[in-house]
Amino acid sequence: MSRFWSPLVHKLTPYVPGEQPKMTDLIKLNTNESPYGPSPRALEAIRAADNDTLRLYPDPEALALRTALGARVGLGPEYVFVGNGSDEVLAHAFQAFFAHGEPLLFPDVTYSFYHVYCGLYSLPFRTVPLTDDMQVNIADYAGPCSGVVVANPNAPTGIALSLAEVRQLLELQPDRVVLIDEAYVDFGAESAVSLIKDYPNLLVVQTFSKSRALAGLRVGFAFGQPELIEGLVRIKDSFNSYPLDRLAQVGATAAVEDEAWFASSVQKVIASRTALAEGLQKLGFDVLPSKANFVYTWHPNRNAAELATQLRERAIIVRHLRGERTAAWLRITVGTDQQCEKLLSALRDILCSNSL
Ligand SMILES: Cc1ncc(COP(=O)(O)O)c(C=O)c1O
Repeated sequence: MSRFWSPLVHKLTPYVPGEQPKMTDLIKLNTNESPYGPSPRALEAIRAADNDTLRLYPDPEALALRTALGARVGLGPEYVFVGNGSDEVLAHAFQAFFAHGEPLLFPDVTYSFYHVYCGLYSLPFRTVPLTDDMQVNIADYAGPCSGVVVANPNAPTGIALSLAEVRQLLELQPDRVVLIDEAYVDFGAESAVSLIKDYPNLLVVQTFSKSRALAGLRVGFAFGQPELIEGLVRIKDSFNSYPLDRLAQVGATAAVEDEAWFASSVQKVIASRTALAEGLQKLGFDVLPSKANFVYTWHPNRNAAELATQLRERAIIVRHLRGERTAAWLRITVGTDQQCEKLLSALRDILCSNSL
């Protein structure tokens, strides 16, 4: 606390990111990064741009990147917004669209940054409980509100909504923005991008951090009708007109163009996810059906926080989230097959030694 802080700063509860350990020999399954490196074409483009042009500001409109992202899904660049990680895109969207006096709606178990943005921008919100089996029930999102935010697949559950359910949500709230956070959509869920032209209230947010293995480059993006994109640009240009540096713009553009690398690394993660879920079930864990690059799991006879600590002692880190509905669970990023095997063998070991 400091007397120099504005009153708002005293009230903030900032987001606590997952650990980024200094030790390099840990098996890191805690922040849903890709276990595979980025597209070699992206790395090559970044190296090629590492030159004297860095003295110049980047393109404030990131037109080449927006054009490449739009072309991939049949949309012009006027339907695309980019920012410094999807966290920044989300923050701008909260500020641009959700201050209408009524509460913003989002699930009680979801990405915890949504609460943080509501605090930062003083937005009233109401959390909508997931069902007992951790599903989003669309009918619960009816009634007066400032907008709706749903992660699809949801985090940390990994459970996805169908396109029909997203459409239903858009039709429940035709006068409010419905933001679908698709950070994990490439791992097997249906993207709502195909609905953009039909629904002026739809904003779809995605990221390069997961399926494109570029968490360190910090690039996120949104698709929406031009009037929504213009709203985001008005916020961006009142905050930081150059959110994406030159290296990020060229690296991300090259990554979008490397469809073969993208498809193969996503397929590898999906295959490893199936094996990981089966391995956990054999050890007595309950595993939710995941369409993301992580699984959400709990063991009926074990304390999740203790399991996380015991794994850490064996140089494996997974994510344990406190909170009434999440304390019993572990969120485990899908690693390489070898990493998943090491995790399963460590758990086997822990479960055996605990039962002695
Ligand atoms: C649901 C969800 N949305 C958005 C993000 C933010 O991703 P980034 O800022 O790296 O694009 C994350 C990060 O883990 C996430 O889990």
